[in-house]
Amino acid sequence: MAMKTVVIISGSGSNLQALIDRANEIGIEISGVISNREEAFGLQRAQRAGITTALVDHRQFESRETFDAALSETIDGMQAQLVILAGFMRILTPEFTRRYEGRMLNIHPSLLPKYRGLHTHRRALEAGDEWHGATVHFVTEELDGGATIIQAPVAVSSADSEETLAAKVHAVEHRIYPLAAQWFAEGRLRLEQGVAYLDNAPLPVEGYQYHD
Ligand code: GAR
Repeated sequence: MAMKTVVIISGSGSNLQALIDRANEIGIEISGVISNREEAFGLQRAQRAGITTALVDHRQFESRETFDAALSETIDGMQAQLVILAGFMRILTPEFTRRYEGRMLNIHPSLLPKYRGLHTHRRALEAGDEWHGATVHFVTEELDGGATIIQAPVAVSSADSEETLAAKVHAVEHRIYPLAAQWFAEGRLRLEQGVAYLDNAPLPVEGYQYHD
């Protein structure tokens, strides 16, 4: 049985697309896609794939708490076993993250713990880093701070701009997110007392290192 999965987005949804394209192969069924922005292109991607979509517009709520409550109601209505944040650009309340702890994943465009937050490609370039990349992690209360599952390093070249670096990072994101979702759907991945386990062995703090 495929694992019922809800994907939450704010924008383009290229990671969502990678999950849609490989859903059968990796054992997930995307039962819904939720966006906090009406104009998010990912909503069109979902509709094109025949997936139920919902808009929960954060601007229509007075507080993070009421927004998050509406978001959980929508997620739970879609009977999610796994919640995947894919370019969802809102900070979540502790109540929300606790509710889905151990079954909510996020992808972040940096080699965490480096560059939590925004503008990660620019910051890596400005720092002159040789390596940049992407991280899939369990979501906990700490922003971009939960246990790391997979990291994909990407070499930075002196010719890179923010755009070319972002494109390189996106390319590896589209490989590692479906892989992490597959591990979870197969029951191979779990979070226990803040540590990510793959096949019953604790993953290193920097996660499984993915290389092409
Ligand atoms: C991705 O690069 C993802 O890592 C990043 O947003 C992009 C979404 O792209 N997420 C964050 O910055 C979360 N803090 P997409 O909409 O094309 O999947």
